[in-house]
Amino acid sequence: MGERKRRLAAGQGLRHRFDRALIATALRALEAGDRAGAENAFERLVAAVPDDLGTAAADDFDALHACGVIALQLGRTARAEALLVKANALRDRDAALHCHLAIAYRRLGKADAAIGELEKALALDPALAAAHSNLGNLLLERGDHEAALHSFERALVIRQDYPEALNGLGDAQRTAGHYERACTNLERAIALDPVFHEAWYNLSRARAQWAAALGGASGAEVPPQVSENAERALESILSALQINADNAAYWTQFESCVGDFDLRHPIDPRLHSRLLEALEHPAVDPSALARPIVSVVMTHPDMQAIERSLVANETIDEVALPEFARRASSVLGDALARRLLEGIVVPNALIQSLCAVTRGALLAQWARDPAADPAVPLDCVAAIAQQAFNTEYVNGESAAESEWVARLARSIAEARADSRAVPLHWCALYGCYRTLHQLDAAEEIASEVESTPLHALAERQIGEPLEERRLRSAIPQLTQVSDVVSEAVKDQYEANPYPRWLRIRSGEAQRSVAAFLRSRFPGADIRGLDDASGRILIAGCGTGRHPISTALRFPDARILALDLSKASLAYALRKTRALGIGNVEYAQADILELDSLAERFPVIECTGVLHHLKDPIAGWRTLGSLLVPGGVMRVGLYSDIARRHVVRAREVVAAEGFPPTPDGIRAFRRFVLAHDGDPLLARFARSEDFYSMSGLRDLVFNVQEHRFALPQVAAMLSELRFEFLGFELSDPAAAPAYRARFPGDPALTSLDNWHAFEDSRPDTFARMYQFWVRKPRRTG
Ligand SMILES: C[S@@+](CC[C@H](N)C(=O)[O-])C[C@H]1O[C@@H](n2cnc3c(N)ncnc32)[C@H](O)[C@@H]1O
Repeated sequence: MGERKRRLAAGQGLRHRFDRALIATALRALEAGDRAGAENAFERLVAAVPDDLGTAAADDFDALHACGVIALQLGRTARAEALLVKANALRDRDAALHCHLAIAYRRLGKADAAIGELEKALALDPALAAAHSNLGNLLLERGDHEAALHSFERALVIRQDYPEALNGLGDAQRTAGHYERACTNLERAIALDPVFHEAWYNLSRARAQWAAALGGASGAEVPPQVSENAERALESILSALQINADNAAYWTQFESCVGDFDLRHPIDPRLHSRLLEALEHPAVDPSALARPIVSVVMTHPDMQAIERSLVANETIDEVALPEFARRASSVLGDALARRLLEGIVVPNALIQSLCAVTRGALLAQWARDPAADPAVPLDCVAAIAQQAFNTEYVNGESAAESEWVARLARSIAEARADSRAVPLHWCALYGCYRTLHQLDAAEEIASEVESTPLHALAERQIGEPLEERRLRSAIPQLTQVSDVVSEAVKDQYEANPYPRWLRIRSGEAQRSVAAFLRSRFPGADIRGLDDASGRILIAGCGTGRHPISTALRFPDARILALDLSKASLAYALRKTRALGIGNVEYAQADILELDSLAERFPVIECTGVLHHLKDPIAGWRTLGSLLVPGGVMRVGLYSDIARRHVVRAREVVAAEGFPPTPDGIRAFRRFVLAHDGDPLLARFARSEDFYSMSGLRDLVFNVQEHRFALPQVAAMLSELRFEFLGFELSDPAAAPAYRARFPGDPALTSLDNWHAFEDSRPDTFARMYQFWVRKPRRTG
C-alpha cells in the first residue's frame, strides 16, 4: 500500500488536503467577481483531492461543502456534485447542503434527484423560502402545476417581497391559464426588481396568451383588452431584450408578439432596429415577421403613391419611369423592406406588383438603351431578384418581356465572349426573370461577382442550385417507387420541392424524446421508451425543415430521413450541411415499400405526408410495423374543417380546369385575386403559399390529398391499436381554452372533446392535427 493510501485508510488524509486559507481566497475572489482568481485558488485546492475522496473525517464537512459551492459558482457542476455528495455522506442533516445538491442535480438534468434534495432540505427547515421557490420551478418544469403553485405560495408566505417566487408563481398561473393573476404577480416581481428580465419575458407570455384567449373566445367582436394585452406583451418583451438580448427564447417571443401587429411608417427606431436584428436571429422565423414589416412598407408615403399609379396603369412607360423609380427606390431604400424581399416569400399582392412592375420598367429601359444609367439602385434590383427567385417566378411576364430577357441573356454572353465587363445591373435584372444558373458559364459568373454586391444573389441563384444538382447523386435509394399514386406524388415534388424554406427557428434543445414527452404530456405512460436510444425515423422528410428541426430539438438523436423526391432530398442535404448538422442521414424511399426495412425504431415522425398516400392507413400501418413495442410516433394530418378554403379552391380549380402547370397556377392566382369578395378564396391572399409556385402546388394542386375529422382519426387509432398521447398545439391559447371548457379532461386527450372544441374554433388545427401516439408495449 502506498503512503497516500495508507494515510487515507487511517482516516488522516483529508484535514490537511483542504487548505482553508485557499477556500477563503476562492470565496473572496468569487465575491469580488474575480473569476480567474477563484479558478486559480480552486484548482490548487482540489488538485490535492482525488476524485475518490477516500475516508473523510467528520469535521471536513464544512470544507467539502464550501468547495462544492465554489465549484457550483464556477460552473464545474460534475465536480460540485462529487464534493457535495461526499459532504452529504459526512452529515445528512444540513438543509443548505441539500439545497446546493439540488442545484447541482438540476443543472445535470437530474430533476427528480433535485426535487428529492429540496424536499429533504424543507423537511429539516420548512422556513427556507428559496427552497420552496426552487422546488416550485422544478415542479413547473415537470408539468406539475398544482404542486408548483403550492410551493411558490409557501415561499411567499415566508418572504412576501420575493421576486423569484413571484415570478415562478406568475408563470405557474400563466401555464394554468389564470392570466390576470399571473400578470399581477409578474408585475409585482418586476416592481421589486426592474431588471429581472425573466419576469419581463414571462409577463410578455402571460399578456400575449391572455390576448389570444380573449380574442379566441370573443367571436367577431374583439374586446379592447385584446389589443391592450398584445401591446403590453410587445412592450414587455422589448424590455426583456433591452436588459438581456442574449437569450434566444426572448427573440422567439419577440417574433411571436410583433408578428400579429400592423405597424405604421415611420416606426420607432428602437423597434426598427429590433426587427432588423430579429430577421437575422437564429431563433426567429423571418416569415413570422412578414405582417409587421409589410405593414410598415404599405404605409410608406411613396408606397401609397405607387399603389395609385399601379391601379391606373399596369406598366410604367418611359415618361413615368423617373418618378416611379424614385418612389420605388425610396420604399426599397429601407433595409427592412429589402431584407424581407431577400429572406422570405412576401405575402402581399401589392408588394409583389411593385416588384413585377419595377422589373418590367427596368427591362423596358434596358431594351431601349442598354447603356443607360439604371433607374433603380443595384441593391434594390438584387432584392427584387431574390424575391422573384423565392416565389419561383410565380408572377407571369408579357411576351415582350420574354423576348427582352432572351436578348439580355445573349448580350451577357456576347459581352463575356468579347471579354467586356458585364454590368452588374444586367445580371441582377436577369435574376428578376430567370435563375442566374441558366446563364451560359454561370459558375464563372458566380466567381466574377464574388466580391460585388451581387455575391448573395449569385450564391442563391447559381451556387445553391448547382450544389443540389451535385448532391442528388450522393443520396442512396432504399426502396423502389412503384405505386401509381406514389409515382405521381414523387413527380410533383420532383418538379416543385416543398417547402422551399430559407431559415429555421432553432428552438429549445431537449435531452431525449422521452424527456420531451414527459414534460409535454406529464400523465402519459411512456414506460419502455428508452431515454438513451436516440434513433428516429422521419418518413416523408420533404426539403429538410422537418428533420433539421427534429435534429435541433434532439441533438443527441441519430435520424434517418426518407422521401420520395430526390430534388427535395438534395435541398434537404444542402441545408443540413450548411447548418453543420451531422446527425441526419437521407435516403429515397416510398413509405408503402418500407416493410422491406430490417431496422425497428423507438420513434417515428411522419407529418404532412400520410394524407398524400392513396391509402393513408396502409402507410400508417407499415410505419407502425417499424415501431418497437412501446415506441412513439408523431403524426401530422390535414384537418378537413381547417382546410375549408382549400376545399373551395380545389372546386374552383376543377370547375375552371386550371392545369397543375406554371401557367395553370398563375391563372388560378389571377382568378383568386379577381374574386376577393369570396371570403374563403380571400384567405389565400394572406397565406405565404399563395405567393410561390411550389406553395400553391402543394396547397391547392396536390395530386393526392385526403383530409380528416377527429372522429376518423380516433377510428384509425383504434384500428391500429395506438394510444393517443396528446396534441402539439401551435395556438398557445388552445390548451387553456380547452381546459376551461373541459375541466374533466386534465390530460387533454379526449378526441371527442377536441372534436367539439374544433367545431367551435375551426382554425385550431390550421397547421394540421399534429399529435403523438404510442404503440402498445406488447402486441398480440
Ligand atoms: C408537404 S411535404 C412535408 C414534408 C415534411 N414532413 C414537413 O413537414 O416539412 C410532403 C412530403 O411527403 C413526401 N411523400 C409523399 N408520399 C410519400 C410516400 N409514399 N413515401 C415517402 N414520402 C412521401 C413528398 O415527397 C413530400 O416531400
